[in-house]
Amino acid sequence: MELAILGADDWPIAREIRLRALKDSPSAYIADYEDEVTVGEEGWRERFTRMRSVVARDDGRIIGMASSVRVAGRPTYERHIESVWVDPRFRRNGVLRAVLGHLSVADPGVTEWRVWVLDTNTVARQVYDRLGFSPTGERQLLPDGSGRREIRLRFGR
Ligand SMILES: CC(C)(COP(=O)(O)OP(=O)(O)OC[C@H]1O[C@@H](n2cnc3c(N)ncnc32)[C@H](O)[C@@H]1OP(=O)(O)O)[C@@H](O)C(=O)NCCC(=O)NCCS
Repeated sequence: MELAILGADDWPIAREIRLRALKDSPSAYIADYEDEVTVGEEGWRERFTRMRSVVARDDGRIIGMASSVRVAGRPTYERHIESVWVDPRFRRNGVLRAVLGHLSVADPGVTEWRVWVLDTNTVARQVYDRLGFSPTGERQLLPDGSGRREIRLRFGR
C-alpha cells in the first residue's frame, strides 16, 4: 500500500473517490451523491484550500481516503477529519489506520483531532474506538428533519 497527499490539481481524484464513497456507503454520510455530483472544478479547488486529503493506493488503484480540515474560529492545533472511506474489498486491513497516520504526520503541530460520526454508523464508531478516539459528549441533531444525530469524537496526542 502506498500513501500520498493530494495536491490542488488532484481535485478530480478526490471528487471521484468521494462520489464512489457516497454511492457505496450512503448511510455513513450526511451529504448525498446527488448534491456532490454537481460540485465542479471551482468548488473542489475551493475545498482544497481548507482540506488536506490522503489517499491509499494498492497497485496504483485508490483503495481509501480521508481528509482533514481547519475549521474557522478553531485553534490551529485542532483539525477535523472528514470524507473517510475505504474500498469494501480492502476493509479491516489497516487502511484507515495508515491513512489517518499519514494525515497526522503531515500536520505535526496538530494535537487535537475531531470527527463527527452518525450515531447509527456502528461500524465507524467501533473503528474510531479501536483507533483511540473517545466521545466529547457533543451531539447534534441534523437540520434535515431526518431525526438523525451525529456524535463528536476526539483524539489527542
Ligand atoms: C470506517 C472504515 C473507513 C474503516 O476502514 P478500515 O480500513 O476497514 O479500518 P482499519 O482496517 O484501519 O481498522 C481500524 C481498527 O478498527 C477495527 N475495525 C475495522 N473494521 C471493523 C469492524 N467492521 N468492526 C469492528 N472493528 C473494526 C480494526 O480491527 C482496527 O483495529 P485494530 O488495529 O485494533 O485491530 C470503513 O469501514 C468504511 O469505509 N466504512 C464506510 C464509510 C464510513 O463509515 N466512513 C466513516 C464516516 S465517519
